[in-house]
Order: sequence, then C-alpha cells, then structure tokens
Amino acid sequence: KKILLINGPNLNLLGQREPGIYGSDTLESLEHNLKQIAEQRNVALTCMQSNHEGVIIDQIHLANRKYEGIIFNPGAFTHYSIAIRDAIAAIDVPVIEVHISNVHKRESFRHHSVMAAVTKGQIVGLGMKGYELALFALTDE
Ligand code: DQA
Repeated sequence: KKILLINGPNLNLLGQREPGIYGSDTLESLEHNLKQIAEQRNVALTCMQSNHEGVIIDQIHLANRKYEGIIFNPGAFTHYSIAIRDAIAAIDVPVIEVHISNVHKRESFRHHSVMAAVTKGQIVGLGMKGYELALFALTDE
C-alpha cells in the first residue's frame, strides 16, 4: 500500500514552535519514525510539508488514484480553506485529518474544521501518536 503524509503550514517548525502545545519532536523525527512504522507494515510512506495552500491542493490532485490513503494535518488551513476542502472532496482517496493538539481546548476559531465533513475521520489531541493511529486506520483494512 502507498500512503501520503501531508503536513501544512508552520508544521516545518515542529520542535521549536510552541513546544508546550506541539511537543518537542521535530517534523524530521516524526517523518522518520512514521516511515519506519510504515515499512514494518509493508507500506510505502511518502512525506511532504508545505506552507502554501496551492502547493497542497496540487499535491492532493496528484495523489488521486496513486495512494490508498492520505494522512493530513492542514494546520491553520483546517479552519478556513474551502479550496483545500474542495480538493479533498474531488479525489477518491480517503483522508484522515490529524491535529497534534486538542483544538477543542483552545481558541474558539480552532473548534471548527471546514475539512471534517469530507474526511474519513479525525484524530485530535493525541500528539504525534495521532499520525501513527491514522496510518494504522488507513492500512488495517
Ligand atoms: C494544528 C491545530 C491548528 O489549529 C493549528 O493552526 C496548527 C496545528 C494541530 O496539529 O494541532 O497549525 O493543526
């Protein structure tokens, strides 16, 4: 199976960005660990990160029919990018939305996800473990 991991804006700064909220693990270590877990399950994991809405939309389009699933942390785009939401709705690949922090405990503008209704499911507030659980969910069936 082939799975794509997309991390959105500011997640390149994991490890140094608000560590009290997002922890001290870097994006590099997240990608490294997740690739190892994927390998053990015979899954080929491709990782990308972008701070740019259009780049993420292009990647979602390109992923259509090439991957069995997408693990996606849209960062702040979660809360307002209808364009990314429409890109997810346009493809056949199931998407699991992951948030490191428990967005429901935070500012009210983080409580709503415009993506949620077009995703397979959401994993929220479980830290880096959320990405692992998303990988299991996409590859167990
Ligand atoms: C986030 C939550 C978002 O509200 C925020 O803008 C992020 C990260 C999370 O992983 O908890 O950039 O998606």
